Amino acid sequence: MKKFSAVILAAGAGTRMKSSVPKVLHKLSGKSLIDWVIDSVESLKPDNIVVVLGHKAETLEKALAGRNVKIVYQKEQLGSAHALMQAGKVLKSYNGDILVISGDVPLVKPATLASLLKRSKENKASVTVLTAEVDNPFGYGRIIRGARTEAGSALEKIAEEKDASASEKAVKEINSGIYCFDKNVWKALSKVKPNNAKKEYYLTDTVEILKKEGKKAAVCPARSAFEVKGINSRAELEQAEQALLDGKISSLLENGVTVIDRKNVYVSFDAKIGQDTVIYPGAFIGRGVKIGRSCLIKGSSFIENSEIGDNCQISYSYVSGAKTGNDIKIGPFSHIRPGSVLKDNVKVGNFSETKKSVIAKNSKVNHLSYIGDAEVGENVNIGAGTITCNYDGEKKHKTVIGAGSFVGSNVNFVAPVKIGKDVLVAAGSTITHDIPSGKLAIARARQEVKRRKERVKIGE
Ligand code: UD1
Ligand code: CA
Repeated sequence: MKKFSAVILAAGAGTRMKSSVPKVLHKLSGKSLIDWVIDSVESLKPDNIVVVLGHKAETLEKALAGRNVKIVYQKEQLGSAHALMQAGKVLKSYNGDILVISGDVPLVKPATLASLLKRSKENKASVTVLTAEVDNPFGYGRIIRGARTEAGSALEKIAEEKDASASEKAVKEINSGIYCFDKNVWKALSKVKPNNAKKEYYLTDTVEILKKEGKKAAVCPARSAFEVKGINSRAELEQAEQALLDGKISSLLENGVTVIDRKNVYVSFDAKIGQDTVIYPGAFIGRGVKIGRSCLIKGSSFIENSEIGDNCQISYSYVSGAKTGNDIKIGPFSHIRPGSVLKDNVKVGNFSETKKSVIAKNSKVNHLSYIGDAEVGENVNIGAGTITCNYDGEKKHKTVIGAGSFVGSNVNFVAPVKIGKDVLVAAGSTITHDIPSGKLAIARARQEVKRRKERVKIGE
């Protein structure tokens, strides 16, 4: 591929989203629109990625921290040509091609961008416009082609909705807002005038300007119109979300995952789910999830950023930032929080919460417990209502429970505390001191049985 740099236009206000969040930071399948675009462009290994920011630039700049992009500013949003001009500050002496794309076209595939770059090289054109055929072209710039010749019909100009004549409006081939320019673009941009209905500097005017200078303008039709659809409103965001989801579920089904009700689950684009896993209605599988084979994901479980082993069951639970082995059971109604590591065959059951804790093989936390900042050994039974008191109001402290220990119901571990192996902790104990291996600990007031005082009878 010829070398190129990319410019992502993202200075516009995106008013149709009706949002205090900049449009390109809205999320599609858990990933911001601009991250989708940057990821696609980045996969083609450009020399530079320049992002043009304006509206709410500060918020966007923060969101882009850590990404390998150069940022330029368009202080006043005077139009897409004016926006691209700002990138000239970085790219003017650059010799390769310039790929221009809006920050709001998240679905465009790297292969489509690659074919645009390729087409531009083959045609030796100064501008190549990625186009699409749509049923309803309203709002888009229309691709106006000249008379047909043997070589096809050349691109004449792009007519914007507000400036187009009736016959131009009837054209269904639209400008995707994705272009490949050569370095003549900078001079062409300086000639753009805001002589149009919106009084804006239109990037689309560069087509006519370049042609007047004897340069070539070409089109590259995209394979799917859907890919190049921009997101301008919440409705379009939802449509894109549904389309991605639909594709994701179809691919899961093809790969041996059972989805009982595809209209009633959410699975992020990046989820990896193994064969013979069954997803019951109600599941929300967010970003960064890997689920093994033969698992059952039951009821309205919310899972994100987690890795689940094979043959596991998760029922009506909230799982975030967790890692599990095989054959584990979570729920019904568990809260598995970040840093939870559940090894093979662990059970965390009804109304139990775990956080930043490693629970080793075969151990059980079956009922109404909180296990935080803890290390639980193998084959441990944690009785109902057990609490690790990990927080003293200032710091978090650790609880260690050795392998083979049996913790009775309603035990409090006041951390930091260390329980040895094969310890028996009596129900109702509040454990404040370490317990050596093999011992029995009881830490509760001894029961007394006293004579009952005579009862005052009500109403006498
Ligand atoms: C633009 C195209 C139109 C095309 C459509 C595809 C122009 C004049 N028209 O129209 O032909 O069919 O995209 O979606 O370009 N931007 C800035 N600064 C500005 C103005 C815009 O950075 O001053 C950015 C926006 O953030 C956006 C992009 O440029 O990413 C396009 O601008 P927008 O106002 O959305 O143009 P459209 O009317 O959609
Ligand atoms: Ca747009």
